[in-house]
This record gives sequence, structure tokens and C-alpha cells, in this order.
Amino acid sequence: MNQFSLTSLATFSSLFLTSLRSLSTKSSRVFYSSVRFTVSSGEMASHIVGYPRMGPKRELKFALESFWDGKSSAEELQEVAAYLRASIWKQMADTGINYIPSNTFSFYDQVLDTTAMLGAIPPRYVWNGGEVGFDVYFSMARGNADVPAMEMTKWFDTNYHYIVPELGPDVKFTYASHKAVNEYKEAKALGVDTVPVIIGPVSYLLLSKPAKGVEKSFSLLSLIDKILPVYREVVAELRAAGASWIQFDEPKLVMDLDSHQLQAFTHAYSELESYLSGLNVLIETYFADVPAEAYKTLTSLKGITAFGFDLVRGPKTLDLVKGGFPSGKFLFAGVVDGRNIWANDLVASLDTLRSLESIVGKDKLVVSTSCSLLHTAVDLVNETKLDKELKSWLAFAAQKIVEVNALAKALSSQKDEAFFSANVAAHTSRKSSPRVTNEAVQKAAAALKGSDHRRATTVGARLEAQQKKLNLPILPTTTIGSFPQTMDLRRVRREYKAKKISEDDYVKAIKEEISKVVQLQEELDIDVLVHGEPERNDMVEFFGEQLSGFAFTVNGWVQSYGSRCVKPPIIYGDVSRPKPMTVFWSSIAQSLTKRPMKGMLTGPVTILNWSFVRNDQPRFETCYQIALSIKDEVEDLQNAGINVIQIDEAALREGLPLRKSEQAFYLEWAVQSFRITNCGVHDTTQIHTHMCYSNFNDIIHSIIDMDADVITIENSRSDEKLLSVFREGVKYSAGIGPGVYDIHSPRIPSTEEIVDRITKMLAVLESNILWVNPDCGLKTRKYSEVKPAISNMVAAAKAVRTQLASAK
Ligand SMILES: *[C@@H]1O[C@H](CO)[C@@H](O)[C@H](O)[C@H]1NC(C)=O
Ligand SMILES: *[C@@H]1O[C@H](CO)[C@@H](O)[C@H](O)[C@H]1NC(C)=O
Repeated sequence: MNQFSLTSLATFSSLFLTSLRSLSTKSSRVFYSSVRFTVSSGEMASHIVGYPRMGPKRELKFALESFWDGKSSAEELQEVAAYLRASIWKQMADTGINYIPSNTFSFYDQVLDTTAMLGAIPPRYVWNGGEVGFDVYFSMARGNADVPAMEMTKWFDTNYHYIVPELGPDVKFTYASHKAVNEYKEAKALGVDTVPVIIGPVSYLLLSKPAKGVEKSFSLLSLIDKILPVYREVVAELRAAGASWIQFDEPKLVMDLDSHQLQAFTHAYSELESYLSGLNVLIETYFADVPAEAYKTLTSLKGITAFGFDLVRGPKTLDLVKGGFPSGKFLFAGVVDGRNIWANDLVASLDTLRSLESIVGKDKLVVSTSCSLLHTAVDLVNETKLDKELKSWLAFAAQKIVEVNALAKALSSQKDEAFFSANVAAHTSRKSSPRVTNEAVQKAAAALKGSDHRRATTVGARLEAQQKKLNLPILPTTTIGSFPQTMDLRRVRREYKAKKISEDDYVKAIKEEISKVVQLQEELDIDVLVHGEPERNDMVEFFGEQLSGFAFTVNGWVQSYGSRCVKPPIIYGDVSRPKPMTVFWSSIAQSLTKRPMKGMLTGPVTILNWSFVRNDQPRFETCYQIALSIKDEVEDLQNAGINVIQIDEAALREGLPLRKSEQAFYLEWAVQSFRITNCGVHDTTQIHTHMCYSNFNDIIHSIIDMDADVITIENSRSDEKLLSVFREGVKYSAGIGPGVYDIHSPRIPSTEEIVDRITKMLAVLESNILWVNPDCGLKTRKYSEVKPAISNMVAAAKAVRTQLASAK
């Protein structure tokens, strides 16, 4: 039935929409006549926690953006969405999955969907009751002409971002979006009986924040009795529509919760109990093990039929289950990893499942994914850039469904021997492949053990040696790295990649751009220059493409937020650097000026964190390998006459584990990885790093321990927060450049304004360590904004220098 091919969706054309329309009306009646998850006894069942929404070629992204741009109608958007949902249900049904989720589709975000369901619309979005439509929904998500969007934040420790509900004592909850029920019915009409998925009431409240004007100390959990009536209505409607299972996602149960918070779960589900009777209710947790106390609370909840656990990130839950699991309840065992792209080790999973089976009983164990597959890539089938061997090691969402099914079948004595032996063969080839293992790298990484990897002298002594060489004015000015990326520049890179222009033409074009940027910086009288990074598409891809052990996909996209997706590289083998990566361009740039030119590198923690990482060795080992490659690059830059080298660790804080008990170990290896990159340079080589956040009060000691000579920080929105750290007596003697203006806005800051900020910083920081710089790279700005802004910034630095000199 290749009428379900999604290929044509890639380009969004009206032609496509017309054909789609006829297709979806035709298919809606005869889609599937009788798929239901009747599981006969003795047969093991299978379940998927959730599925990516974007489509294999980001069809939803293009449909959304076309709608937002006014190029297509709401109806057209709905059609693409319905088509994607139908394809996913069909795919799972065809594979043989018994418990197929619905309502895991979203036009933007599942937490925002829940906010709409509860009618918790902040008043500024002017909602007049009734079903929440696209207008109000997308205003909350993206803002509109009058009001900005609601705040977005990270979904646990994933790279997905959700829209944070804003609640207060006056919020009136009403049932205002029937999406869950509608999608259940939609699937049913297609012949697929699904498990509707809803974010559970307690996690929802714990994921919220107090609305503007509400006391910070407001207890969000105090709203529990106000939101439960809406949940009851939803449950009643789902039951009336024929649902026999409901899945409540309560991922907050894996966090460090206090007894008051745990109590809220007990309370909420006992209040819901009578409404749930006759229904099968699954409570799903993910992203870590459930702490012992929370496990006790969870498994004692009233009215619950089944519990779902992430056994990949939370292997400790296995021990808890072994220590006791309520009899007669179902265990949904998340053994197929929803967070990575590796083929499951089916033999190992089968072992785990068998041991669970002996505890919970054969007919009570359900094979599942560790979390929603939202966090992995969609489908491996059409990846043309990956070779056959590498592909045999991988599984994206579509392949993970097949794995779940194969495991369930194997437990019911219907093992697909061919599938299992192919899996064993793939694991064997991965283990022994010379592409994966590089003896020299393994040795070098092992040799790192036992040393601290610290530069020999103190930062004070180094700064002095550097100043002798660089001879910078007080309050030196610099920028973070990138300069505006024009359409022309992107075209040149694209054409070079597609081999449409020659290497010579490419080098010439990039050289011209660097020379333009250097000249501009000299005109603006900046002290430490950058080359502007015209040759780079992305902070990580640029390096990944030049390191061995990395692979790239064509369509391995993962939703980051709304219609935005990222395509992380895959680290599959030991990482090494065949040849210098940046020395060519940095040397050219340095040759164009007498001022110091910064060499620009991405740090190991950031490269690691923004990639799909190997699961056959600990993360820190992979990170140390990357650190060694960057170390070689740092030393080559130094030998080529680059005296200032910036190593960005944008993701250092981002990688912090969810649970406090794991954070210290992470920080230790992450900071050490950074130090490895530059422990071998001369005192006179100045190492900078840049941090994309100012919220680091809690990790300030780790940041100091990185032992960089200068750190620049994205700070412009929260001077106070940052400076308070130093006011509270943290001893800090390296160079520091808290961003003096916000590059994320097109607004041009005045000289006076910047003078004012520098003055405030000088009240807390010594003038001999303060740098003056914008708060981030300038890549996304226009030259018409960059020129006046930087000009004012340099003028401000000079004005303060004059003040300081006359005050002496
Ligand atoms: C893969 O490519 C084939 C052939 O072009 C197409 O029919 C199929 O729909 C594609 N599958 C996906 C998931 O993109
Ligand atoms: C980096 O890792 C952290 C922790 O796992 C995660 O929260 C974050 O989203 C990751 N960043 C990216 C771009 O994947």
C-alpha cells in the first residue's frame, strides 16, 4: 500500500495538498478494518510510549511554517497533521504493536496541549471561552503582534523544550480542548484502538510556574483539586468514546521530590479513583530510575492498573521491582531506548524481560520503549549517507517499534530467529570493527588517568605573561566569534559542498569575507579580533565532519521545540583528528592584522552533548577522546602563531544530570575535559571560553576550576544575578567578560547605557580583569545592527578607560 508514501510531503505544494485531500478522505473510511490490541493470554504485549510528530522528512515543520506565513490554510495544516497521525498508527498496527498511543501528536508541544485542555490560558492571550483554536494556541506558543510568547524551557534533560504553564490562585480551569478525545476517535474510525496519552495532573503542576504577579512562593500543588474536575471530564469522555486504557505520563516521579510532593500523587489519584474504575490506567515514568520513596508512592496508588519504567536510564528500578511489585498489576518495561539511535541489544533485553516475567507474571509484562520516541530520529530506511554496516548498528523510531514487537514475540515463543541473528551479527560487527576501535586513541585516553591536567602556573602569573606579549589596553574589547552570515555566504558554502564551485573559488570567497570582517573590526578599533567564522555552518557539525568516529544523517532530525529540529551527528567510533581543522583559516586571518586574532574552537563537552553519543563506553571516555583531538588543534594553532584561543563550552551546564547525586561526578569529568584541551600550552597563550548562560551561581566553582584565562558570559539580561556571585565573596582572578549588550534583540544599545553597565560591573570586579564584549556571537544579526552596536560598545569602553585614568 504505497499510497501511504510520505515522500511527496517533503515539498509543500498545493498539488501535493490536493492529492493528499483526496487520499485522506478516501482512506478515512477504509483505513484499517479491525486492528485492536486483543492480547490472548500467554501472548506478550507491546507498547510505545510516544512517537515523533514531525514526519520522516519534517512534513509537519513545513506545513506549520507555511501556515504561519499565511501561505496555506488551517484546513491544509489539519490535513497534513491527520495524514501524519494516520501513517504512524498504521505503521504501529502493521508492525503488531498492541498498545498504540494517541494524543502524542502535537502542533507545538504536549504541555501546551495540556494547558489548552485545562483552559489555563493566561489572560493576555484574550481567550473568550469555547474550544481553544489555532489563534490562541499559536499566540501562546509564538506570541503575536501584541504579546510575546509564553516562556519555554527544557523538558527534563532532553533537548526538547516545552511551554511553561503559568498558574496562580485565580486561574479558572475548564475543559477547553478536546484534542485527546478527538484523536482517540480519529484513530478508532481508522480501525485502531489506541491508548490516549495525557500528562498527569501532578507532573503538570510541577512543570508549571507562578504566573506574573503571583508570589514566587505560591504552591502550585495547591491547585490540584481545581484541575482534577477537568481530568475527570476528559476521562469520562474517553471512556464514552470507547477507550479501555489511558496513559498518564508522570515523569516528575523520577526527580528528587519531597514527601509533600509525593503526597500530591497519592491525593490526586485517590481523588480520581472512582472515575477511573473499569478503565485500565497506566502511569508512565521516564528519563531516570524512580527513587525508592517515589516507587513506594507510585506502586501504592489507587485505581492504577499498570506502571511504566525507563529501564535504560533507570536500571536501578529493576532492583526495586525485584524487591517488590504489586501483584496483579502490569509492568510496562521500557527496554528499548527512546533517547538514542542505537540498535537494541535484543539478547540482553530479553534477559532483563525474562527476569521481570518471573516476578510480575507472564501475562502482566508489557514490552515498551524507555520514553517517548520523540527524542530520537524518525526513520533509518532512506538514510543514503550512511553505509550498510553503520546502518546495521542503528535503529531510529520506526526501527525501534519493530524491536519492541520482536521482543514481545520472542517472549511469547514466537521468536523471529532471523531478526535476532541479524541483531547479534550487527552487535558483533560493531564490537570488533576497526572503524569503532582505534588502539592509539584508546591508549592515549587511558594514559590520561591519574593526572590533573592543569597548566603549570597560576592564572595570575599567566595573565601577566600574556599581557607582556599582547599589550592590551585596560578593559579590552572583543566579540564572541561569529559575524553576520549573509545569504551570499550561505550560498557559497552550499555550492562548494555540492561541488558546484571549485575549491579555489570557495577559498577566495571565504578569504574575501574574512578580510572584510578583519577590516571592519580594525575600523571599529576592537582589541582582540575574530575571523567571523564564514566557513562554518554549525559549531559542532564543522568539527564533527573533520574528526573521525563521526557520521552524519540526511534526515536524522529531532524536534527541539515547535517546528524547530536539530540533526545531531552520530559518534560511533573512537574520536581522532586526522589533520588540523581550523589552522588554515585562522592563520590567514592572523596574517591580515597586527592585532591578536582569536582561534575559535568548540569544546569537547559541547561536541559530545550536541551529538548522539556511543552507548558502548561511558560518556566521559568519549569526551576525553574529543578533548585529546581538540588539544592537538589548540597546540597546532599556538604553533601557527595564534596567541589567543577561545574554546567554547556552550553546553557545559546543559549537560548537568537530572539528579543531584550524579552532578558532582559529571562536573568533574566535564571540567577536566576542558582542561585537557589546553593544559599543554605556553603561559603566553591566552585561553578564552564562552558560556551561553549567566545562571551559573550553583556551578561557579566548577567554572573557576576550568582554569581558563578569560571567560565571556551571556549575561546581558541578568547583570544582577551574575554579579551577585562575585559580591558574595567568590574569589575570582581570571579575566571575565560579562556580555554588555544583548545580541538576541535587534535593538542598538547606546554608549551611555553600556558605560552604565561597565560601571556597575566595576563596582564588583577589578578593572584589570574585566573585558568588554557583546553577550553572544553576531551570526544572526545584520551588519546594519552590528556596526552601530559595536561602535557604541568600543566608545563606551574608551570612555570608561578615560574615567579610570583620570581617577588615578
Ligand atoms: C523511502 O523512500 C521510498 C522510495 O522513494 C519511499 O517510497 C518511502 O516512502 C520512503 N520512506 C520514508 C519513511 O521516507
Ligand atoms: C545536552 O545534554 C543535556 C543532558 O542530557 C540535554 O538536556 C541537552 O538538551 C543536550 N543538548 C542537546 C543539544 O542535545
